[in-house]
Amino acid sequence: MGYVGWRPARDVLLGGLRRLEYRGYDSAGIATVTPDSPTVEVHRAAGPLDELVRVTDAAGEGDTVARAGMGHTRWATHGAPTDRNAHPHRDASGRVAVIHNGIIENFAALRAELEDDGVELASDTDTEVAAHLVARALDAEPEAGFTAAVRHVVNRLEGAFTLVFTDARRPDEIVAARRSSPLVVGIGDGETFVASDVAAFIDHTRDAVELGQDQIVTLTREGAVVTDFHGDLAPTRPFHVDWDIAAAEKGGHDFFMQKEIEEQPAALADTLRGHLVDGRIVLDEQRLSDQELRDIDKVFVVACGTAYHAGLLAKYAIEHWCRIPVEVEVASEFRYRDPVLDRSTLVVAISQSGETADTLEAVRHAREQKARVLAICNTNGAQIPRESDAVLYTHAGPEVGVAATKTFTSQVVACYLVGLALAQNRGTKYSDEVEREYHALVESADAVKEVLASAVEPTRQLARDLAGSKAVLFLGRHVGYPVALEGALKLKELAYMHAEGFAAGELKHGPIALIEQDLPVVVVMPSPKGRATLHAKLLSNIREIQARGARTIVIAEEGDETVRPFASVLIETPAVPTLIQPLVASVPLQVFSAEVARARGYDVDKPRNLAKSVTVE
Ligand code: M6R
Repeated sequence: MGYVGWRPARDVLLGGLRRLEYRGYDSAGIATVTPDSPTVEVHRAAGPLDELVRVTDAAGEGDTVARAGMGHTRWATHGAPTDRNAHPHRDASGRVAVIHNGIIENFAALRAELEDDGVELASDTDTEVAAHLVARALDAEPEAGFTAAVRHVVNRLEGAFTLVFTDARRPDEIVAARRSSPLVVGIGDGETFVASDVAAFIDHTRDAVELGQDQIVTLTREGAVVTDFHGDLAPTRPFHVDWDIAAAEKGGHDFFMQKEIEEQPAALADTLRGHLVDGRIVLDEQRLSDQELRDIDKVFVVACGTAYHAGLLAKYAIEHWCRIPVEVEVASEFRYRDPVLDRSTLVVAISQSGETADTLEAVRHAREQKARVLAICNTNGAQIPRESDAVLYTHAGPEVGVAATKTFTSQVVACYLVGLALAQNRGTKYSDEVEREYHALVESADAVKEVLASAVEPTRQLARDLAGSKAVLFLGRHVGYPVALEGALKLKELAYMHAEGFAAGELKHGPIALIEQDLPVVVVMPSPKGRATLHAKLLSNIREIQARGARTIVIAEEGDETVRPFASVLIETPAVPTLIQPLVASVPLQVFSAEVARARGYDVDKPRNLAKSVTVE
């Protein structure tokens, strides 16, 4: 985050970092620029933001007169999360400071060049070179200006870098450059901001400007000037943030994840609203013709983590409704295996942040191969939707907890909307059938509300009972399989517990060897009213593990009496259509992981080693 204005910069920056902390939290730092000081004042601390607050408080009133500065929360890529590697970094004279998101891939060559010239670097990071290089550019051509110096340097950098610079001799100016990692500008009254996320400045202004790829912004109190990496004025896209401060706060909940779990009915309703117009499914941005959509003969879904699990569910819906083959792939693997893509391939990229580097690179690869790209995203105007041919936004609102919850269920319904749009376009579903499916999706919000009312408390109790377990396995079949994978991912990331999700049928091919006395195994049962064979097969799987001593925690449709005798613990969910079941079955698993983490004394919103937005490959 960067700030130039009339308020004490230190307060603005620490307040903004508090809202950005979820993006990275292994260390943090601020730099402030005070008129007439020859150096930029920097405070840094390893650990959570509270450490930095302690350090700045201990520093006393020194920099409280500064009205400009910048701050950073780090997720380490090069160099351990220590005080010396925390950002900001300064050049040797202390005149220029920099903060950075991303990776400067040619930093080793630049570092060697600086060291050959006798410069001593003070950190192990790839970032620090940028401060030295800008200081040198300023010294070499003082009259060219701060922005020109930054432009000169960013043109030498390779990789993904979003950088913000301050210069002690310019206490009223901040310069930032964007390549890949997100950056938005906030325009206030006599003050301007720049940050990775509008949440950083939402306390002060809701008027924002999005920076595009390879753009530089120069901030002063009067406003922001945006240029490209050649120095030409660049077109900008101003927007008004349509959510307010309350949406970014805990609202009486103990932690954000809890609030976000409870917000799911509203997130689902908001994501679906307005997408059925005159009996037809409409997307948000559609730069593909109906004919181009009809020509699609193959779909790839690319995504990471939880979004990948939403993608697995897309496969069941799209293949069933549209009769098009769908492959789902982890985005980081996609482009390296040379997938067969052409104009008649649709690549659906799912990303709540819209900035995940792995997914973005998969999108770019797909477009280079002439495939059509449709993005499902929760962040308006983020890079992935910008580079896509069509976009469907999930309207889950800001998700601060690192673990994806409401964005996951919203992604699932968004995937289903895409399936319905394709089905209507290809004529594999009549419009009355499309409407019926759409209304079933709308009703899913009530089913999720019901499960929140009935299953949360028993699940919490169960989580507290199992918090001491060494491992938990998750089993499912058909649409229950991605739910099992997602349940395991949540438990791993929040409770740091060994957790694995399996297709229940795979158990006998190896994983059943893991079953031992009292091992908790969570089973996602299909509806007894669905395909009889599926239900019967899973019942057999439960018996197999129970016979080997497992403690079976079964998530089943209410009224499914056949499963009761085999469940050590039964969590009932409302009866819903097959494709909706993942929405209701996921909720207890989200609550379970959060509660186990809490019982083990971990920070539910900020699990170790993770960051909300992963902008490096
Ligand atoms: O922003 P994205 O949806 O692209 O993020 C993808 C993953 O990093 C994300 O879903 C991650 O797996 C979640 N934190 C898991 O809860």
